[in-house]
Amino acid sequence: MTKKSASAQSVTAKSLPVHLSSEAGFAKIAKLLSPAARQFSEGMGFAAKSGAMLVVPGTDGKPEAALFGTGSDEGLADNPFLAGKLATDLPPGRYHLAGKVAKPQLVYLAFLLGKYRFSRYRKHDLRDVTLDAPEGCDAATIERTAEIICMGRDLINTPANDLTTADLAAAAKALAKAHKAKFKEIVGDDLLEENFPLIHAVGKASAVPPRLVDIRWGATDAPKVTLVGKGVVFDTGGLDLKTSASMLLMRKDMGGAATALTTAALIMASGINVRLRVLLPIVENAVSGLSFRPGDIYPSRKGITVEIGNTDAEGRLILADALTLADEEKPDLLVDFATLTGAARVALGPELPPFYTDDEALAAEIARISGETHDPVWRMPLWKPYQAMLDSKYADTNNTGASGFAGSITAALFLKRFVSDTSAYAHFDIYGWNPSAKPGKPEGGEPQAARLVAALVAKRFAQK
Ligand code: BES
Ligand code: MG
Ligand code: ZN
Repeated sequence: MTKKSASAQSVTAKSLPVHLSSEAGFAKIAKLLSPAARQFSEGMGFAAKSGAMLVVPGTDGKPEAALFGTGSDEGLADNPFLAGKLATDLPPGRYHLAGKVAKPQLVYLAFLLGKYRFSRYRKHDLRDVTLDAPEGCDAATIERTAEIICMGRDLINTPANDLTTADLAAAAKALAKAHKAKFKEIVGDDLLEENFPLIHAVGKASAVPPRLVDIRWGATDAPKVTLVGKGVVFDTGGLDLKTSASMLLMRKDMGGAATALTTAALIMASGINVRLRVLLPIVENAVSGLSFRPGDIYPSRKGITVEIGNTDAEGRLILADALTLADEEKPDLLVDFATLTGAARVALGPELPPFYTDDEALAAEIARISGETHDPVWRMPLWKPYQAMLDSKYADTNNTGASGFAGSITAALFLKRFVSDTSAYAHFDIYGWNPSAKPGKPEGGEPQAARLVAALVAKRFAQK
């Protein structure tokens, strides 16, 4: 017997069943257990409450099975992400899911995503739990998806001292290379030369120069999909400096760029026939004698002049120039991701990013696929009357509204001014971060809506 088959055999022999059970269905599940295991579960008062877990021993005292409560849900159909709890709560070992599993792909994905820890600076403390891919699940695809999402998480989690503008561009370059995509970047003063005045203005105070990354992949005659991501490697607020509490997490302000890269990797790995373009304006919003100032007025690539009402509203400025470039070739689909406003969090909280689009068909499709992929987002309105909040006395527009009202909407309206020719355009105001651990969503960086947008692209353009 070869070594390989020996280990494969012992692996199968050792794999413990995990019984998923709703509260109502537990009596039936209990019948599948040995009398010893059943008595143990009764003695422990196991009632299959949502997320409850119990390992039950057989007559020999060794673990016989694990029980996992799904609450009122039958088989995790409502919340497949609950399976992420298996990764953190099961004792070390190898497991498989017993019986029929609803949404096996998402259940397996949630498990794999639940196993993630950011371990660049310290070994993580997770137990060694493995789960056999549930039946009806394309294991290789799901494992690849999980890997790609964890790449995005790593990028967001990496602090700004190890993720400068140059480092983020290098990560984008490495991804492009891995997928044989074309990579181009415009750096520093060349941004002025090539007419990206706003990216330059925001990024010029930093010791590491600003840049615009431009990745192209796929056949030139395929439908054009362009992803744009806010890449602020650190947001001090600029001269309108943030408070300590507000600044603390601002390494995640490149979450939009990380999400665009994650989405791009999902699309490229799936090999779908689109001409993909990824545009990442990458800057550090730093403080120095070179900082752009409140009251400054800059031209933009689009020709719209912009008065700076607040240097902390930097994301929309760099996105404006990148979106203008994206819009110049009128893509069939244009999506941007940005950790753009604190106001989005006030409105919907950290787990439900708002998205904005004037394209009704696109909005409906995003909402539907959001449900299918369990990648939650919620539509908010591009409410035209609020455009007036951005009026400037001296320039075509201000970058902020003075009132502070409707901050996420006015930011979206600002972006929309720079997209005039592309009809299928959606903007996602993401948080990019899990403030506390939830099943399948460990605390820290999260490329929200990446799976959703990759699925959207697959649905829209797969038939080609
Ligand atoms: N990166 C922030 C937005 C942000 C803050 C996202 C906290 C997630 C959590 C952005 O650059 C910013 O500072 N926005 C300001 C805009 C304001 C000055 C109009 C905000 O939301 O306070
Ligand atoms: Mg800011
Ligand atoms: Zn920012």
